[in-house]
Amino acid sequence: MNRDFPRSDLTPNYSISQVLKGGWQLSEGHSQMIDEQQAIEDMRSFVEAGITTFDCADIYTGVEELIGKFLKKYKSTFESGELPAVQVHTKCVPDLDELPIFTKAYTEALVDRSLKRIGVERLDLVQFYWWDLSIPGYLDLAQHLAELQKAGKIRYIGVTNFDAVHLREILNEGVQVVSIQVQYSVLDQRPEEDILELCKQHDIKLLCYGTLAGGFLTERYIGVKEPHEPLENRSLTKYKLIIDEFGGWDLFQELLVCLKAVADKHKVGIAEVAIKYVLQKQLVAGAIVGAHNSKHIEKIKKLKTFELDKNDLKDINGVISKSKGPKGNVYYLERQKDGKHAKIMRYNLN
Ligand SMILES: NC(=O)c1ccc[n+]([C@@H]2O[C@H](COP(=O)([O-])OP(=O)(O)OC[C@H]3O[C@@H](n4cnc5c(N)ncnc54)[C@H](OP(=O)(O)O)[C@@H]3O)[C@@H](O)[C@H]2O)c1
Repeated sequence: MNRDFPRSDLTPNYSISQVLKGGWQLSEGHSQMIDEQQAIEDMRSFVEAGITTFDCADIYTGVEELIGKFLKKYKSTFESGELPAVQVHTKCVPDLDELPIFTKAYTEALVDRSLKRIGVERLDLVQFYWWDLSIPGYLDLAQHLAELQKAGKIRYIGVTNFDAVHLREILNEGVQVVSIQVQYSVLDQRPEEDILELCKQHDIKLLCYGTLAGGFLTERYIGVKEPHEPLENRSLTKYKLIIDEFGGWDLFQELLVCLKAVADKHKVGIAEVAIKYVLQKQLVAGAIVGAHNSKHIEKIKKLKTFELDKNDLKDINGVISKSKGPKGNVYYLERQKDGKHAKIMRYNLN
């Protein structure tokens, strides 16, 4: 069994696998029903492949519990060192309806519930989000989490989907943020224009989602007619809107053809090229790749075998340069209440 998979330091004392196993795909309501036992065995397969870092959230219904069951089932195997240690990254996402009446007790209850569900004494990384920045409270949430960190319940604090203006406010409060989880892919370059400089100044690492656009960035969609809603799952619904922002289906097809040529050259799949593209970007510590099951693990392991060279990047960036978006700061489009990106979201899952 080869558990050797590239790792990054999120901070000097904390290392993660460069591909993180994304948890949203296992949550209730994302796609099809999942088989719990199979999902637990799949987690073991990821860890055996060296993909030891898992991403989840308090709002991914049922996923923290599933990871907790996996850790419990293989407790002795972890203790004996037969399986390497797992890092679990969760999120703290207060419900939209709670924001006006938000309290420290509510934050603590969310964190305590995550601890209980995952079955650990301390959460490795808590990434927080605030649905509506016009409602005060996100700085309080940051302070609450910092206090819970001091109390030993949280190891590191991260954020997700904050733009530079609001991230700076959080940093000015003295809260130590080690990472920001953002959408970053061949289709979405918004982090470069917005948060990258601030992250450089504060040594904040990027953890990226959407690297495969929910599966659109694969051979499966080459030469296929433009799909329309209803799509197979929530990720595809989300990223079809990003393809529209990018410039539409024809330009997306041109991108897929370009990625396929690069993939053939390196004897890998389009997905691996798309993931590698993001991993080679500045400050990126990891790509969070969604997994319904373990069927893509062998392909993902091929990430170890190649790097994109300057000709590959020139070709890919040549297509990207024709795109018209998505534009604006990180998550700006998604935060527009009446916009099409916001309309597909679920705001009160806690
Ligand atoms: N903070 C946020 O707002 C936010 C938002 C979205 C996601 N996330 C996190 O990011 C994770 C990733 O989710 P995502 O929605 O962005 O999806 P994604 O990672 O872009 O796409 C995942 C899908 O790609 C396909 N796939 C995976 N590896 C592959 C490979 N090597 N070759 C071919 N196909 C492959 C699989 O589809 P099939 O199973 O259909 O083959 C999989 O379900 C989530 O689980 C979650 O943890 C965070």
